[in-house]
Order: sequence, then C-alpha cells, then structure tokens
Amino acid sequence: MTERTLVLIKPDGVSRSLVGDILARIERKGLTFAALELKNVSDDLAAKHYAEHEGKPFYPSLVEFITSGPLVAAVLEGPRAVAAFRQIAGGTDPVEKAVPGTIRGDYALSTQYNLVHGSDSPESAEREIALWFPALND
Ligand code: CMP
Repeated sequence: MTERTLVLIKPDGVSRSLVGDILARIERKGLTFAALELKNVSDDLAAKHYAEHEGKPFYPSLVEFITSGPLVAAVLEGPRAVAAFRQIAGGTDPVEKAVPGTIRGDYALSTQYNLVHGSDSPESAEREIALWFPALND
C-alpha cells in the first residue's frame, strides 16, 4: 500500500549544496515525488510544524534555524514511505544514532543541524502534508 511522508531538506542542506545528493538518495531508494518545492518558511508555519516541541530548550533555536534561509520541502510516496525515508536519513543524533551510509551519518555532526526532517508516523505525515502543501489532493 502506498504511503506518503513529508520531507524537508533543511537550510543547512541547501547552504551546503547537498540538495542534489539527498534527492538522488531518495530516488535510488525507489521513493517518488508527489510534490517538491524550494520554500522560505514563515514563523507561523515553523511554529505549527514544530508544535510538539514547543517548551523544549532547543525550540527557539530550532524555529530560528528552520526560518533562516530557503529549504526544500517534498512529499514522497511509496510503500512504507515514512519508515523508508527515516531509514535513509538515519537517527536524529547524527553521531550517536545515525550510521554511515545514511544522510545524517555521512554528512552531519549536530543534532540541530541534521540536514533533513522526515515525518515520524503516517498520522504526522498527514498533518504535516496538510500544513506544507494544502493544495495537494489525496
Ligand atoms: P526533526 O526531525 O526536524 O524534528 C525535530 C528537530 O529538533 C530534530 O529534527 C532536530 O533537528 C531538533 N532536535 C531534536 N533534539 C534536539 C536537541 N536535543 N538539541 C537540538 N535540536 C534537537
């Protein structure tokens, strides 16, 4: 069964010129694009996207970072797309959790500047896709 997930290549991925590499990894995995767009993120969208983290110590810098420059937002499709993207992204902590061969394991050192975001469940994906791509139909 096809599933969708919301992926962000965060501002560090864009400024470090890793967009092409990350998109190629997604394509090689076999996931397909239902939407793909370069975006500048408003404070309002950032706050809604990261609502579950409000109140955490890293929340203010997380919102500041995600709004600091353009990012690439995408909707990916494929069987078990949520888990498939999280597999190729690697764990949130790029040193302790992400293994070599994953996006974060290969290219990131910091838990904040960890290059990509992927929805953590199909339910989160539906919520996030509605936020980022309200015109995308099911
Ligand atoms: P992301 O998948 O975008 O979802 C929440 C983000 O918060 C996460 O990736 C990290 O970038 C960030 N994050 C999570 N934990 C920490 C932490 N302990 N310190 C700084 N940033 C964090």
